Parts: sequence; C-alpha cells; structure tokens
Amino acid sequence: MMIRRNRILRQSPAIRAMVAETVLTANDFIAPLFITEGNGVKEEIPSMLNYYSMSIDNTVAEVKELWNMGIKSVLLFIKCKDELKDNKGTEALNPGGLMQRSIKAIKDACPEMLVMTDVALDPFSSYGHDGIVENGEIVNDATVEVLAKMSVSHAEAGADIVAPSDMMDGRILAIREALEQSGFTKTGIMSYSAKYASCFYGPFRDALDSAPGFGDKKTYQMDYANRREAIKETLMDVEEGADIVMVKPAMAYLDIIREVKDAVDVPVSAYHVSGEYAMIKAAAKMGWLNEEKAILESLTGIKRAGADLIATYFAKDAAKLLNRQ
Ligand code: PBG
Repeated sequence: MMIRRNRILRQSPAIRAMVAETVLTANDFIAPLFITEGNGVKEEIPSMLNYYSMSIDNTVAEVKELWNMGIKSVLLFIKCKDELKDNKGTEALNPGGLMQRSIKAIKDACPEMLVMTDVALDPFSSYGHDGIVENGEIVNDATVEVLAKMSVSHAEAGADIVAPSDMMDGRILAIREALEQSGFTKTGIMSYSAKYASCFYGPFRDALDSAPGFGDKKTYQMDYANRREAIKETLMDVEEGADIVMVKPAMAYLDIIREVKDAVDVPVSAYHVSGEYAMIKAAAKMGWLNEEKAILESLTGIKRAGADLIATYFAKDAAKLLNRQ
C-alpha cells in the first residue's frame, strides 16, 4: 500500500499555486535600457527582436510605462558616438554626456524608479574594451581610477545604484571610497562579481557597437570552466562594499547562482543576457518554442537557482504575463 502519493499536491491549479516554492513578481526584474542620441528615435536591435535602442524622450516614456507595470528598476546603457570614443574614457566622465543626461531625465520624470547605471569603459573605448589599453594590454589600476570617477559622475547625475560590469580588480573598494569622499553615502553598488567571458553577449555588443576591436575579454572576464573562482570574486566584492552581487550570464550558470547565493548574505542578481534573449526570440519566431512559456520557465528557473533579482530583456513581457495571471 502506498502511503506517500506525491501527485496529490499537483492535481489542480489551486493546489499547485499554493505549494509553489518560487513565485516570480515584477519586483524581481531589472529592465536594461539602451539609450541613443537624438529625438524620437526607436531602433530595433537586429539580433534582439522587439528590443530597441531609444533616444532619451522615448526612454522616459518607456520608464513610466515600466513603473506602471510594477517594475522597480532600470539598468542604463548608452550608445556613444564614434567620434567621442577614446582610450581614456573621457566621454564617460562628461557631466553633460548621454548617460548623465539620461539619468537626470529619468529621475525627473519618474523619481521613484531605481536607476542603475552601467559602469565600464567599453561603450566609450576606441578599442571596445572595458579598460584602458596600453601595449595591447588592458591595464587594471588606471582603469579603476576612471571607473571610480565615472561612478561619482553617475551619482552626481542622480543614479541610485552604480553597476560596474568591467571585472577589474579592486574596483568595488575604489568606487565605494570615491562615493564616500564625494558625500554619496546613499548610492549603492551592484557589482558584476562573477561575470564570465561569454559568447552570449554578442547581440548586446551589436546594440552598442562595442565589440572588442582586438582580442577578447578573457584577461578580465572569468573562464567559464571555473566555479570556485566565482565564489572568491564575489566574497571579495562583498568585503569591498558591494551591496548587491551579480552572476552573469544566467542560464548556463545556474550552479554558480546557487553557490553564490549560499556563500553570501547580500542580495544576488543574475543577468539573463542578450544572447539568452535572442535564443528564445529566434526559436519562437521559427515556431519552435512557445515564447510566453519559455520566458516564465526561464526566469522562474533563474530565481529558483537563487537569484533575488534578474536583469532581463524580458522584464516588460514577463511583468505583462504575471499581471495577467
Ligand atoms: C559591458 C557589458 C556587457 C554586457 C553588459 N555590460 C558586454 C560585455 O562584457 O562585452 C552584456 C549584456 C548582455 O549581453 O545582455 N561591460
């Protein structure tokens, strides 16, 4: 005679909903936004179907819409004009730069929306690298100095949380100290702590025209063969002052998300990256996957693995689906 019948708890939508261990909500999402110069601009990113880079005016309208759908945070990336790129990140520090203007416009229009900003040199770099290049190498310490200044510049413009995505050593401490010295004691740091050198960033680099001009990013981003290194990186970032840590990409790294979650006592975010978005979009377009189901299953899986927050290009779609449920 069976005394344990596991199917009892699966027999109806009501009971399944009651015993669900992981529940996605719009509060979990961080919506990445690509911002470009101009007015009235809304351009589809070729390798990211139905995802757009927008000028500030359209971005502001989008942010209001996201807020009304329950999304609490956006993560800003800007597309820098080629003629402004150099090897020192000059434009990244421009108080009137596209990033700084975007932050102000969004905070003016929607003050409660948490504005997170990408801190890295690649969109501003004539070499397409996340750091300053000397003799074919990406130099660490000089880059960290610029990243710290860049973070202060974002804070001055009104950013709530700066998000360094560069993987230089020691940058979290340098950023925290620079923020403190400038009086930005309420500005948070979301560190891309375990960011792997991944082919899944391809569509993003199309969007920002930021592909590395030479070589790859393997001397700073992590080797995807490694697991313990992710814990080491993340623990150091927490010690240096990270408020939130991140694992990136997400779906091929669910084991890392879980281990990081077990190792730290700060919120863990995961970045469901552009290539992961593109895969689902492409398969859905071919009629090979049900897009809505694939979105919810993927994001629930990432949360189940241990992510408290998920940066995802599906933020809006998923919020819509959840509001409908
Ligand atoms: C750049 C940066 C990248 C992403 C976020 N910040 C690309 C890279 O490291 O080359 C990738 C995001 C995505 O693919 O969705 N520092």
